[in-house]
Amino acid sequence: MNKGIFITIEGGEGAGKSTLIERISHKMQEMGYAVTTTREPGGIPIAEQIRSVILDRSHVAMDARTEALLYAASRRQHLVEKVIPVLQAGGMVICDRFVDSSLAYQGYARGLGMEEIWAINQFAIEDTMPDLTIYMDIPPEIGLSRIKQADERELNRLDLEKLEFHHKVREGYLKLLKLHPERIVRVDANQAVDAVLKDVLEAIRLRLGR
Ligand code: TMP
Repeated sequence: MNKGIFITIEGGEGAGKSTLIERISHKMQEMGYAVTTTREPGGIPIAEQIRSVILDRSHVAMDARTEALLYAASRRQHLVEKVIPVLQAGGMVICDRFVDSSLAYQGYARGLGMEEIWAINQFAIEDTMPDLTIYMDIPPEIGLSRIKQADERELNRLDLEKLEFHHKVREGYLKLLKLHPERIVRVDANQAVDAVLKDVLEAIRLRLGR
């Protein structure tokens, strides 16, 4: 049994997840939590290597199922090596993306099917699920224009998908929100960072009683 708290942050491109995670982590530390922040795909050397393979812009030949399996493989290793030990020790993990990303991107937007993607991910994660998932919702046009302006971030293979794909990702997330209202909270990411942070902290307080 895990004693810790597992929070995942989800959203389309340019929703502002990284900035938000830094801010929440800071707040939670002030409140006395032992916080570990991490990301998917990545967070540990093996998974960061898988990330490079998946997101490499030259890998145009990558099959959609291969992509889905690589995300699930990196998720497994990251959970075992990093997330589960922190949760077992009673810490708080705040993770940039988790299984909902695979359901929205590979299951829904790529059209592989959310049930199929859930099946391979269930094998990978067994029974570890987030206590709370924040979905940072932003219209894809706005999110994509944000990342195109930020020159420090090179656009990866998925960023380069057509606008239609990113609309489907959003639809996928909105479906997940409907299916799991007890776990997923939507936050409007198209507002100033302070306002987003306030909404997220409120969600953590309401859902986790903290
Ligand atoms: P990032 O840009 O948030 O670092 O995520 C990397 C990309 O990988 C992003 O385009 C979303 C995508 N992704 C999936 O398609 N499926 C997944 O399971 C995960 C974790 C990420």
